[in-house]
Amino acid sequence: MTEIVRQFGTPLFVYDGNMIRERYETLRRSFPSFDVFYSMKANPSLALIGLLRSLGAGSEIASGGELFLAREAGYDPLDIVFAGPGKSDRELEEAIISGIYAINAESFRELEHIAHISKLVGVPARVALRINTSVGLTKSGGGSAGPLHERMAGGPSKFGIDEEKLDRLGKSWDKRAIEIVGIHVYTASQILHEDEIIENAKRTLAVADHVESVTGTELVAIDFGGGLGVPHYEEEASLDMPALGAAVEDVFRPFSSRSDSRLILELGRYLLSESGVFVSRIIELKESRGERFVITDGGINQFVRPVLMKVRHQAKVVNKLASTGGGTAKVAGPLCTPIDITSQEIEVPEDVALEDLVGIFNAGAYGYSMSPQLFLSHATPAEALVLDGEMHEARKRGRVEDLLLNQRPLPEPE
Ligand SMILES: Cc1ncc(COP(=O)(O)O)c(C=O)c1O
Repeated sequence: MTEIVRQFGTPLFVYDGNMIRERYETLRRSFPSFDVFYSMKANPSLALIGLLRSLGAGSEIASGGELFLAREAGYDPLDIVFAGPGKSDRELEEAIISGIYAINAESFRELEHIAHISKLVGVPARVALRINTSVGLTKSGGGSAGPLHERMAGGPSKFGIDEEKLDRLGKSWDKRAIEIVGIHVYTASQILHEDEIIENAKRTLAVADHVESVTGTELVAIDFGGGLGVPHYEEEASLDMPALGAAVEDVFRPFSSRSDSRLILELGRYLLSESGVFVSRIIELKESRGERFVITDGGINQFVRPVLMKVRHQAKVVNKLASTGGGTAKVAGPLCTPIDITSQEIEVPEDVALEDLVGIFNAGAYGYSMSPQLFLSHATPAEALVLDGEMHEARKRGRVEDLLLNQRPLPEPE
């Protein structure tokens, strides 16, 4: 870590490309009937998107910006699906003209609107119906049952068409403008119970049957979402991927054994989260009324996830991994706000000192891109990818001058 920090400085996101490759290959081995799509929202850095494309992944996008990045990284449009509520006309036009595999319709109104735009641009659109299933996760929220705030189906939701309204669909959509290729179900993120994921699979297959009977159309694709979680706490275990894959494959066998059917898994954090470390440098060590603080040059403006999503991320002094005995402290960033705590508890070595490096783990997904980089006007951090022993600069460190980008001061008074 010291070497990479010497090269790229701090604060810095470091990603282990070999681990990402291994995750991708584990998925391919465990779910042989599925195409693995990378959910770009987890981390839109071009180097990572490109790595996943070179491995064979498709791309799940949720904005016109992500469509642009997917195309820049060379994804085949037929390996792109577009999910998410509130798509603008411009985004729909670009997606239709690009010929992506499916736009996921999140409501009946959106389905009609896609048909309208498709007629305007003169290109038919492929659509998957996103369904808000009537049942979501069955275990109660919290911990490995999947945090409540990560749930997206089974209740009132801005995502998808409520399952019980499906009968209204009938056979009446504009067939010249729209081809319904499949369905999309995304129940929740960060699920660590295999049985929940298997139940999701069963519900998803039942929804596909339901859509086929309502529409009288044979579906080609089922996008099963995924939501595969990663452990954050000692009491959590990694998913047993071979066992999970075998069980999910069994559930979908009636569909996958049809010729020309396509099954899709769309994942972000399983592929990336554990590959990433957010590294910052200690600039102050402080004791205040019985509490100790390690103050670093990186804060929640660059890695907001611990406070925004209320997740405890493990942290370590990464240049002194062998030494212990210094007690515990909170890790705080340089921002002028009390919420700027990136780790509630770090074990520090006895000889902890200024300039030491703090690593916050599980930072590969929803790190850089989810964080309010402009808050407190610090320069943006760099990103580095280590692949097969080589260090690559994935994103340059920003400069304070970048803060002026696209801004216009008021004109000087005459
Ligand atoms: C529709 C959809 N697909 C995929 C994902 C990726 O989830 P994860 O990174 O947990 O795999 C999300 C996350 O919000 C999502 O909303």
